[in-house]
Amino acid sequence: MSSHPVGSLAGQWAGSATVADPAHWAISLRDVTVRYPNGTVGLNGVSLDIPAGSMVAIVGLSGSGKSTLIRTINGLVPVTAGTLTVGGCAVDGARPRALRALRGEIGMVFQGFNLAGRASVLQNVLVGRLAHTPLWRTLIGRYRGSDKQLAYEALDSVGILPKLYARASDLSGGQQQRVAIARALTQQPKIVLADEPVASLDPPTAHSVMGDLRRINEERGITVLVNLHLLDLAREYGVRLIGMRAGEVVYDGPAASASDADFERIYGRPIASGDRLAGDGAAR
Ligand SMILES: Nc1ncnc2c1ncn2[C@@H]1O[C@H](COP(=O)(O)OP(=O)(O)O)[C@@H](O)[C@H]1O
Ligand SMILES: [Mg+2]
Repeated sequence: MSSHPVGSLAGQWAGSATVADPAHWAISLRDVTVRYPNGTVGLNGVSLDIPAGSMVAIVGLSGSGKSTLIRTINGLVPVTAGTLTVGGCAVDGARPRALRALRGEIGMVFQGFNLAGRASVLQNVLVGRLAHTPLWRTLIGRYRGSDKQLAYEALDSVGILPKLYARASDLSGGQQQRVAIARALTQQPKIVLADEPVASLDPPTAHSVMGDLRRINEERGITVLVNLHLLDLAREYGVRLIGMRAGEVVYDGPAASASDADFERIYGRPIASGDRLAGDGAAR
């Protein structure tokens, strides 16, 4: 894959909004190290090739670098050393304007949902169109009909359409996370990055939200990276499993066949009941 000069980034990403059938994006890291301003190393020499259309589960203990990896791919945390290419464009060293354009193409889903609680479900989902909407329209709160259509379709695809006019804060956690997924979809993203999206949900809801993410990948072909800390969810929903420990990739292989021993190597300790969604024994 060739990278383009940084100067053409914003132009290319801005222009891609008019492409009818956007391609999905690959991600490539070459010896990427991320050092935070206080000296903490978040990523230590990470190399990964993630082809477009991948469904990747990233697992590791708290502090292993999962969130740093996602924030780096999204251009929120600068690369200290190495090269990072997203959608064929170099992200390391890219200018702020180019990074904003990049973020417009990447849908983010967080553990805490990050919705505007007092706003309606529809308003929250339309935020996904912001990067593709002229400033004057957002200032007067006028979205195009086509933007609303995208929002309705996204809400329908995660089963939340009947809640269109509900206040976000009146929804359950699982419903709020589906709204956040719909917001990401309304962006028509090339990549969806989800950081512990089910960590605050009960087990059945966690499964249905993971199922939504899997469908986004399978039906739309969107590249999906999901940070998880539970091994059973990673095995069930990831196609590829990346294990992180102390900022390094210590496992990379098919998710379904990852053994408990593999997880013990990733975690650096024996498996505990808290590493599984269902705890010990209990089947879904
Ligand atoms: N903003 C930050 N400033 C300094 N250190 C950070 C920051 N964010 C994360 N870290 C550190 O980077 C390492 C990786 O953290 P993180 O990526 O959040 O791991 P995870 O998501 O797997 O829990 C940890 O040592 C953490 O303390
Ligand atoms: Mg994290």
